[in-house]
Amino acid sequence: MALANEELSTKQLLEAQAHIWNHIFNFINSMSLKCAIELGIPDIIYKHGKPMTLSELVDALPNISKTKSQHVHRLMRILLHSNFFVKVNISNDDEEEEHYWLTPASRFLLKDAPLTVAPTVQLVLDPLLTKPCHYLSEWLANDHYQSTFEMTHGMLFWEYAKHEPRLISLMNEATGSDSRLVTRVLLENHKITQVFKGIESLVDVGGGNGTMAKAVVDAFPSMKCIVLDLPQAVAGLQETNNLTYVEGDMFQSIPPADGILLKWVLHDWDDEHCVKILKKCKEAILGKGGKVIIIDMVVDIYEGGDKAVENQLLIDMMLMTLLNGKERSEKEWAKLFLDAGFSSYKITPAIGLRSVIELYP
Ligand SMILES: C[S@@+](CC[C@H](N)C(=O)[O-])C[C@H]1O[C@@H](n2cnc3c(N)ncnc32)[C@H](O)[C@@H]1O
Repeated sequence: MALANEELSTKQLLEAQAHIWNHIFNFINSMSLKCAIELGIPDIIYKHGKPMTLSELVDALPNISKTKSQHVHRLMRILLHSNFFVKVNISNDDEEEEHYWLTPASRFLLKDAPLTVAPTVQLVLDPLLTKPCHYLSEWLANDHYQSTFEMTHGMLFWEYAKHEPRLISLMNEATGSDSRLVTRVLLENHKITQVFKGIESLVDVGGGNGTMAKAVVDAFPSMKCIVLDLPQAVAGLQETNNLTYVEGDMFQSIPPADGILLKWVLHDWDDEHCVKILKKCKEAILGKGGKVIIIDMVVDIYEGGDKAVENQLLIDMMLMTLLNGKERSEKEWAKLFLDAGFSSYKITPAIGLRSVIELYP
């Protein structure tokens, strides 16, 4: 039998090779981005206040010697190609010199910007999280470990986090900045603010450092909100009149409230664990009109084109690797809700790839 690629034209062969090479080397894009953030390049250009030349950039980079100038140029070249920076040509004494400036994407990478994604880059590309990706095939051939993370590090992700304050702090920073973006989008959307209307007490289950809860009680000042999370996530956080923190385990018990919020929590767990969490939520709902509010992806209802599909697929694989979690379709969500004993639900696509799901007992 002829080898499969003998039937291909030269053009097809070269295209196939380029396709494969791009996939092999794609991690260089991620690592170049990580390097730019570690060096503080977006912040340096932003603080400069106008487009910056290579030599100005190299001068401003702490601990980078002039001998590395051409290496920094090559780093900037790949980041220009990936649209993290733009090239602006400015004439200086009849000479055109290349200057770098920010794009909307790099503005999201500024360390002090309220919606910064920089902590997410640091978290997701930390060797602790990338190492398990090397063992995916071994994990698939093994029934012993819940996740590739457990197989690699000898402990489940959240167990490991108990002993690794750096992981918790990166996680809190990353999810906190996402929560600022989510609440901004949600609270601008009249349909979504209705979701919280009439709720006098809310428990944000797995609410991390309470960024989302703070924004919700700011928007609804008569609401009392509790953030329930593991001790390592909430210990020592500042409480207010209407925002308190409870150290606990959502699999054991959830404080009673009119509304139970689960943002970016269920996608961390397999179906069996999700049903357990949802049953605990159902027990915690106070009286008539109470509900669970879930903020997570519903993979088949967002029509955001190829980029959105790729985002969903990549995040789903990361969840599988680290936590044995998953992104779910409406059909998969509906099965969880039924298995946990809920009677009805309503999905509102709201925040890019993510939706708000109201779940009624
Ligand atoms: C992906 S983070 C989401 C944080 C927050 N809801 C947000 O979106 O910004 C998941 C959270 O679940 C918490 N968590 C994990 N296991 C838990 C448990 N058994 N009980 C309570 N919280 C838990 C983690 O500590 C973490 O804060």
